[in-house]
Amino acid sequence: MPRRRLRHGGTALAALLLAAAPATTAAAAPGDGIGDPYFPSYGNTGYDVEHYDLRLGYTPDSDRLTGTATLVAEATEDLDSFSLDFLLDVDSVRVNGTPADFERSGEHKLVITPARPVAEGGQLTVVVKYADVPSTVQWGDGSVTGWNRTPDGAIALGQPEASWWWFPANDHPRDKATFDVAVTVPEGTSAVSNGVLTGETTRAGKTTYTWRQDRPSTTYLATLAVGDYETHEDETGSGLPVYNAYSDDLGSLAGPAKASIERGEEIVEFQEETFGPYPYNALGGVVAGQAADLGFALETQTRPVYSHAFFERGSNPYVVAHELAHQWWGDNVSVAGWQDIWINEGFASYAEWMWSEHEGEGTAQELADYTYHLYPEDDPFWEVAPGDPGPENVFHSAVYDRGALAVHALRQEIGDDAFSELLIAWQEQYAHGNASVEEFIALSEEVSGQDLGDLYDTWLYTPGRPALDTAAADAS
Ligand code: ARG
Ligand code: ZN
Repeated sequence: MPRRRLRHGGTALAALLLAAAPATTAAAAPGDGIGDPYFPSYGNTGYDVEHYDLRLGYTPDSDRLTGTATLVAEATEDLDSFSLDFLLDVDSVRVNGTPADFERSGEHKLVITPARPVAEGGQLTVVVKYADVPSTVQWGDGSVTGWNRTPDGAIALGQPEASWWWFPANDHPRDKATFDVAVTVPEGTSAVSNGVLTGETTRAGKTTYTWRQDRPSTTYLATLAVGDYETHEDETGSGLPVYNAYSDDLGSLAGPAKASIERGEEIVEFQEETFGPYPYNALGGVVAGQAADLGFALETQTRPVYSHAFFERGSNPYVVAHELAHQWWGDNVSVAGWQDIWINEGFASYAEWMWSEHEGEGTAQELADYTYHLYPEDDPFWEVAPGDPGPENVFHSAVYDRGALAVHALRQEIGDDAFSELLIAWQEQYAHGNASVEEFIALSEEVSGQDLGDLYDTWLYTPGRPALDTAAADAS
């Protein structure tokens, strides 16, 4: 079981219980990782980040990124030193105002030793100044990067490792925080991040964009896109600011991309009926250019980023429905650990089927039947169990497709009323926090009053194709 963190605003009683708990976390050394079962070195212990303030400068021509990152955090244990996840060259670090020692450890850790230890419960304000050329910074075998350089700029985007190429962080979903991102770029260049655009100021040939995400976000849901973009600013009927950005490098794909992304407000209105109120105060999307060749989309908070490739065959509202559904499934309620990825991808994929049904383009039942029969019984697809796919398979098609079949099987089993009550209760209960598959199973049994152990065993945890009589397709 993942260790539970005390959430912001935890009660005095919770603090007392935490203090009385066996001191298992105290044994962790800086650089050890937060304890994710799939990615044990990711994230850090000993503190809880409340807010990231990033002041960045970026020059597309040279790919040079300069930054001052200020982390406002609280020590959750007595700290002589602590670590952050980061790969770029660091110039200086201050902790609570005073210069601190720092050194690199392992592949992606920056270990910081403050001049004075910080006591449990104490404030931890960390200022990291850095400058580097992110595209030259390799990690692992060099094939993994959260920094996608393009001819006109760069897009910082990655899952599960995300921040290492652009800001120092506690890079694990369990530590959610608010963000301010100020980016200074050459005049004429766009810089897009999450949340609300609070300012755009041009002086001496440089423009500074300030973006504010004032609802808690995981680090992998923060993004930065710099380059030549056509930007569309608007407001929804209920007054949310909308900001969409389309790369100038879309060519004839600009039309289908806009025809898809600009349906976001309509899609959110539909999803609010099924998932509850939209959890954020801004909406939008970024479509990367052809040269970026991103190859995926990511549900970055309030403003997903889409590969051009999704629009190569025309408009694609389904990928928009998928990424916007993640604003609830993954963003509002985030995984407790990466083994919980089914909650994100199973529900975002199922949201595509719901959108299809809403649009009269095929019911969820028809799409479940189709998907079940898409993979022959001996297809290796059926060997990956979406409830525990393993670190190498967190984005395997089984997590998405069998994951959506699992959602459909659940809906069949508990009925539409309990199903929709469950989805809304889940979003309310864990709003702006984290939760695990075990917690989802528990809530589904509570809401439905049914024992669903066999259903989850079959659909989430047992390799092999479930028999038709247990399958979502059995009603056909
Ligand atoms: N969560 C993303 C989505 O479902 C997938 C991201 C895949 N990430 C990657 N680096 N390939 O849309
Ligand atoms: Zn997804």
